[in-house]
Amino acid sequence: MSNSGDLVIIHNGIIENYEPLRQELTNRGYTFKSDTDTEVLVNLIEDVKTKEKVKLGKAVQIALNQTIGAYAIAVFDKNKPNEIVVARLGSPLAIGVGEDEFFIASDASPFLEFTKNAIYLEDGEMAVVRTHKPMKVRKIKDDSLVQPYVQELQMNLEQIEKGGYDHFMLKEIYEQPDAIKDTFRGRMLVDQGLIKMAGIDDHIDKFLNARRILIVACGTSWHAGLVAEYIFEELARVPVEVEYASEFRYRNPVIYEDDILVAISQSGETADTMAAIKLAKENGAFVFGVCNVVGSSISRLSDAGAYTHAGPEIGVASTKAFTTQITVLTLIALQLAKKKGKISTSDFHTYLAELETIPAKVEKALQSNDHILQIANIYKNAQNCLYLGRGFNFPVALEGALKLKEISYIHAEGYPAAEMKHGPIALIDEQMPVVVIATKKGHYEKVVSNIQEIKSRSGKIIGIVTEGDKDVKNMADHVIEVPETIEFMTPLLTTIPLQLLSYHIAVLLDKNVDQPRNLAKSVTVE
Ligand code: F6R
Repeated sequence: MSNSGDLVIIHNGIIENYEPLRQELTNRGYTFKSDTDTEVLVNLIEDVKTKEKVKLGKAVQIALNQTIGAYAIAVFDKNKPNEIVVARLGSPLAIGVGEDEFFIASDASPFLEFTKNAIYLEDGEMAVVRTHKPMKVRKIKDDSLVQPYVQELQMNLEQIEKGGYDHFMLKEIYEQPDAIKDTFRGRMLVDQGLIKMAGIDDHIDKFLNARRILIVACGTSWHAGLVAEYIFEELARVPVEVEYASEFRYRNPVIYEDDILVAISQSGETADTMAAIKLAKENGAFVFGVCNVVGSSISRLSDAGAYTHAGPEIGVASTKAFTTQITVLTLIALQLAKKKGKISTSDFHTYLAELETIPAKVEKALQSNDHILQIANIYKNAQNCLYLGRGFNFPVALEGALKLKEISYIHAEGYPAAEMKHGPIALIDEQMPVVVIATKKGHYEKVVSNIQEIKSRSGKIIGIVTEGDKDVKNMADHVIEVPETIEFMTPLLTTIPLQLLSYHIAVLLDKNVDQPRNLAKSVTVE
């Protein structure tokens, strides 16, 4: 928030050309109390308003047309308390429409208590909101009027409360069985041996003829993308590349018209992922969005998509969004594998039947909570932690490490288990806890030999193992069991103890679990 003489602004985003604008204003006698781009913007609006003798809405519009960057803003004039001017470009903005009242926020959750009707401004739109007057929405660029679309929201307040849990993160961890069921709902018809997904089925030719699938995302969503790469290639035999959206957008990537870009984002507002989508579209690729937040910018920007239906995720550390992203991507991989004739009908049926059991197995994995709390107590003062996994569980190791570092501030690294000998093994001593995902099948024997290497260097081993495992149990300091499942579905189970472990360590260290320092739930600036 910032103010000029009469105006006050709330701004989310970055005005990139604020330096030259600041210089210009300084030359005309303006002084600044801070170094922020926000203060420059509000003074620019004030300047336009006085110079051009226009109303606040017009002044905001003229000023915004001189800026480069991203913003969601709300501007007030202290002499006109009944009016707020809002605008957005690249950062989200929602307007709650109540009876004789309006609410302005970056998403709907803060005003849900008061109204279920919301208008999501599109990029490049602004609105003048006045009490007792109809609202007008316009394009910032050319002043043309836009008919606002009032959406009735499906979320209720109870959904966004903690529901008896100490933290949103814990609630969301425990919601995963239901969240995964919600992801299946209406899509996986096990009795009929069918998957129905309009986003895929309506564009099946695009998918069948795609040269490659490019996956872009950030953070946890990028980890889900890595799991998806392994599953897509295993089942559907389609080449997949996974990239950080922030790298992809700036590195002049080769994009073909017959590529499909899958963009994964919980919030659907991540600036880098949006920019990667725009780049792919400019190059003619088909964009498929996997988002959680319904109506979010990425879901609107995509040519087609599938929602994860995880429900609101409030904790900054992503949990149920991750497992539901993997779920929806698994459904897509299975559908493509079937349509491409890469798996037999009987395997397809077996996989659907197994996938249906996953929510109950997640429930079972959650029962290790007390045991995990004990382990957390032993390692809560560790300075570093290694996470190892192979194959489908390599990205889970990355995700486990990210969860620990972001909420407990303990330094953690995820590695493919076999890479350990190429460097990280030098770190191992009796102070180093190593979390090893060592579920049966796949590369089990190889992981067991990695565990031996850690043990011989006195590292402390926490094994994530399949129920009934004996080999790892004999070597590890602790084991946490998860139910058995088909190998490519194991990430949906092995992730659970890693989420709980980082949660408990952070709580024991008295950290702010739901709102870790320096992090935001939606990263709407690059
Ligand atoms: C980690 C976390 C972040 C997000 C990342 C992408 O727990 O939440 O790493 O995954 O900022 O956000 P979305 O998925 O909203 O694009």
